[in-house]
Amino acid sequence: MTSEFDLWTENDVPSGQIGKTLIFTRTSRRRFLVQVTAAIAAFTLGPRFLALAQAAAAGATKTADLSTHDAVNVRLKINGKDYAIDQLDPRVTVLDLLRERLHLTGSKKGCDHGQCGACTVLINGRRVNSCLTLAVVNDGAEITTIEGLANGKQLHPMQAAFIKHDGFQCGYCTPGQICSAVALVKEGHAKDDAQIREWMSGNICRCGAYTNILAAIKEARDQSGAAVKG
Ligand code: FES
Ligand code: FES
Repeated sequence: MTSEFDLWTENDVPSGQIGKTLIFTRTSRRRFLVQVTAAIAAFTLGPRFLALAQAAAAGATKTADLSTHDAVNVRLKINGKDYAIDQLDPRVTVLDLLRERLHLTGSKKGCDHGQCGACTVLINGRRVNSCLTLAVVNDGAEITTIEGLANGKQLHPMQAAFIKHDGFQCGYCTPGQICSAVALVKEGHAKDDAQIREWMSGNICRCGAYTNILAAIKEARDQSGAAVKG
């Protein structure tokens, strides 16, 4: 039985039809929509779209080509514990190493492009977007993640302050916010509200908990004795 889409292709248009009326079958209609969508995307994104497609294709090839002699051994101290990671793909980021290989999933992957701060960890005391740095580059480094801030069951003062001041809603950005805030206070960049806002600006909170995050950081700062009257 013929449905409303189950009609003719261009070549099948009856002789009585005027011009090049296109009447699609179900299949050709779907294919047409896919092609149009791809064309619009290519036109809109232009060279960037093509470059991304080529990079993706090149990446796929490279992954397939990785041989064991390309793999590296990396030594890290993470949250006070020594890790010997052998046969690591040199293209693995610190974030992926933490989450996928060591199962330390406290550090979150938000954008994977250095734009949200959800993956912030401390490397040799400095806050770093762990999605942007390769594990092999940090061979021998000391890393502190959100899992390493508490002292046993006793929360770090910054963690306690975030809870007290409701410094989160969904909590996805929170590990990065807290790691960043701990370093911020140590850096001496928590003198006043404006400075805290500026130096925390790399940590995005899509829930918009900024007011409470600010209050939490100020309280932890004051408790640590790091307050500097601005
Ligand atoms: S996941 Fe690293 S900055 Fe967003
Ligand atoms: S608490 Fe949800 S993104 Fe920050």
